[in-house]
Amino acid sequence: MQKYKVVLTGPTWPNAYNKILEHCEVKLWEGKGPIPRDQLLDWLADAEGLFSTGQVKVDAELLSAAPKLRVIAQTGVGYDNVNVEACTNHGVPFANTPGVLVEATADLTFGLLLAAARRIHEGWELVRTGKWQEVLGIDLYGKTLGIVGMGDIGTAVAKRAQAFGMNIIYHNRTLRREAEALGAKYVPFNELLKTADCVICLVPLSAQSRGLFGKEQFAMMKPTVYFVNASRGGLVDTEALYDALINKIIAYAALDVTDPEPIPSGHPLLSLPNILITPHIGSATYETRNRMADLAVQNLLAGLSGNPLATCVNPSVFNKA
Ligand code: DGY
Repeated sequence: MQKYKVVLTGPTWPNAYNKILEHCEVKLWEGKGPIPRDQLLDWLADAEGLFSTGQVKVDAELLSAAPKLRVIAQTGVGYDNVNVEACTNHGVPFANTPGVLVEATADLTFGLLLAAARRIHEGWELVRTGKWQEVLGIDLYGKTLGIVGMGDIGTAVAKRAQAFGMNIIYHNRTLRREAEALGAKYVPFNELLKTADCVICLVPLSAQSRGLFGKEQFAMMKPTVYFVNASRGGLVDTEALYDALINKIIAYAALDVTDPEPIPSGHPLLSLPNILITPHIGSATYETRNRMADLAVQNLLAGLSGNPLATCVNPSVFNKA
């Protein structure tokens, strides 16, 4: 059986990888850090499939360098690194892995809020360094949580918040019935900023949403607000956030994503006492990462054999043929 030629931008999980090897001849980037652009374009010259772990920029240049490409399958739900229109123009279907990472990402997002509110990480640091002492936090019970970006992950966060006795308000492009059923109330963006005790950002990054949280938005928030970003670092103006935290314009930030990312050691944000940062681990559980890899492989093999992808972002590409 003739095998498909496929490029992998990084290692994946054994189950998923073995499935790929059954059907494909693989070029796998195993180097430190993301695959260098030149190397990727070179490998793509005769590739039929691209399996991406999300760290590569997919644009018109890349697509032009890959004339035989029939599918791009990426692990992860966010795809701000991908020019979807260019994929469609080149007749290449692109798929991400929504759905399978919702619960894990919601756990981490709400976990960040809870850890920050109760200073769990600070308490552990004190105990670990022999400075046993109480740290006081805030109650989540009875507080108002404002969720900006009420998609599947936002709705799953709202379920957790409801179980913790929080009132929920949200802002989104459209009303979200599942969230309303949980008692979440739609409000205009500025009203959410002014009234929420905790604000969680789960908006996908795009040219329109970049810098959504800047000086003006932090100034509208309560000085006691806890701000969480679990989407993409680019949603937040980092300098404005630093300014808001150091000048107590807001109380605390908990971030799973930063701009720049990874955040370099010595970055001013890291010197603040009122911040908690995790290394972009929203979907990072064994079970979820395996499910993401399996779904991406399913999409890859479907595209290689000319079949519709389970979670195609640009399904109109199939009408063009
Ligand atoms: C996602 O799935 O978008 C995660 O943030 C990993 O990039």
